[in-house]
Parts: sequence; C-alpha cells; structure tokens
Amino acid sequence: MLNTNIISSALYLILLSSHLGHTLCQSRSNDKTIILLAGQSNMAGRGGVINDQWDGIVPDDCSPTSSILRLNAKHQWVVATEPLHRDIDTNHTCGVGPAMSLAHAVVRKSFGIREVGLVPCAVGGTNISHWSRGGHLYNQLVRRAKGSLRDGGTIQALGWYQGESDTLLKQDADAYRRRLLKFFLDFRTDLQSPMLPIIQVAITSGDARFIEEVRQAQMGVDLMNLVTVDAKGLPLEPDNLHLTTQAQVELGEK
Ligand SMILES: *[C@@H]1O[C@H](CO)[C@@H](O)[C@H](O)[C@H]1NC(C)=O
Ligand SMILES: *[C@@H]1O[C@H](CO)[C@@H](O)[C@H](O)[C@H]1NC(C)=O
Repeated sequence: MLNTNIISSALYLILLSSHLGHTLCQSRSNDKTIILLAGQSNMAGRGGVINDQWDGIVPDDCSPTSSILRLNAKHQWVVATEPLHRDIDTNHTCGVGPAMSLAHAVVRKSFGIREVGLVPCAVGGTNISHWSRGGHLYNQLVRRAKGSLRDGGTIQALGWYQGESDTLLKQDADAYRRRLLKFFLDFRTDLQSPMLPIIQVAITSGDARFIEEVRQAQMGVDLMNLVTVDAKGLPLEPDNLHLTTQAQVELGEK
C-alpha cells in the first residue's frame, strides 16, 4: 500500500521550499515546520470512531512527543495528542487522522527538522463551497495560519483531504475541479505564499455516485508544488466513509 515515491516527493517538496525560502511567512526566532490541516471528516480524523464513540486507541506512529505541537482552538501551541481536531470539529466525535503519522514521518525522514507544528482546521461534512474565499471556514483557516506564525516558524504545507461531500450531485462533481483550484489559488494568494506546497489526498469514499468524477477532478488539478496522495484501497470503518486508524497511519506515512 505504501508508495515510497509519493512519500519522498511530499517530503522533498517540504524541504525544497524551506531551503529556497519560497514561503514568505518566514520566521525570525525558531524553525518550526508548520503544516496546516484542512478538509472534512477524514482529515479531522474518524479512525477508531464507531457509533459516535472513539475507542481511544493511539498507535505508536501517532503517539505524543515534545517535537510535535498542535495549535489549539485558542491559538496556543501545545504538545499534540489525538484527536487533533477535538476542539475544532466540535460537532462531531473525532478520532485518529492522518496528521500525526505524517508529522512523525517528517521528523524521522527530514534532515534538520526539529519541530513540527500542526494546525487543525478541518470540519466534518463540509463541501468545497463551504471553503470558498470569504466563508467562515476559509476565514478561520487564514486566521489560524497567521496565528500559527506568532512565535515564529514557517508554514511549509497545506494538507487537504476533502471532496466526499461533493460526490452526491453530478453538478457538484463537475464543478469540483474549478472550485478546488480556486480555493488553492485564493489561499496561496491570501497567505502571500504563491508556491506554498499542497499535499492533497484523492478520496476513496463518498456519500454517493460521483466519487470517480471527484477523484478525476482532484488529479486533474495541475499546480506547481501540489502533490496528490491516493487514499484508494485503504481500509474503511463499517460506515464505509471513514478511514480506520490503521489506514490513517498509512496515509500519513505516504
Ligand atoms: C456546529 O453546529 C452549529 C449548529 O448547526 C453551527 O452553527 C456551528 O458552526 C457548528 N460548529 C462547527 C465547528 O462545525
Ligand atoms: C454545500 O452545502 C451547503 C449547505 O449545506 C449547500 O447550500 C450547498 O448547496 C452545498 N454546495 C455544494 C457544492 O455541495
């Protein structure tokens, strides 16, 4: 399941941008590698959640460590613990998502990265239109991104896992590519980071019939510094919508 080429290219992009100083959100005082997390439930994390109960199981690859921080809802950096989105996606029961194992992989594989700061912003059930510029979620993402830089650090990537809610209607699936591209471009513009690396996940599940159309739209977005990690084939919870804990660990490591 693990595709090491994708893993390395995602990490390579992060490193490349840090070395070339592409991102304008540069730090003065420390070198925290900041990763923004946005999208819907599978980014917010539902691994281990069955019937609205989280089983509390945290695999080793997602365990807390002093080098991986999380920006909480009050814009304070704290040691990251699962569920990462518990005070952000507050209307849902959160579980394990992909970001902790991604952060562990970044620390493990990237020379010189000592501290990773995760900025959870995903909210379950949201469609791409909810993330359009000027909307509540978009504004919150921009606000939290800027807030994450207060003590220094550099925003090195946006992690994006969304699209399941846009698989219901043909017209939404058809409009997805355009809406997604606009979201990425608007966000890079508003962050004044035109080359901000984006790691998007191609969806594997959805509410309905147009999953393949949305996947094609995701893979059809052609941008510099965008890598796509495919979730297809990863195991799902019994609801057939959400990745299991083990699947989230594998995804993060991709
Ligand atoms: C929770 O649900 C309420 C009522 O629908 C809504 O106003 C609020 O924005 C939701 N909060 C989040 C974080 O999704
Ligand atoms: C997104 O959800 C909102 C509110 O539920 C709805 O009004 C809108 O039509 C949806 N848009 C898409 C593209 O699904």
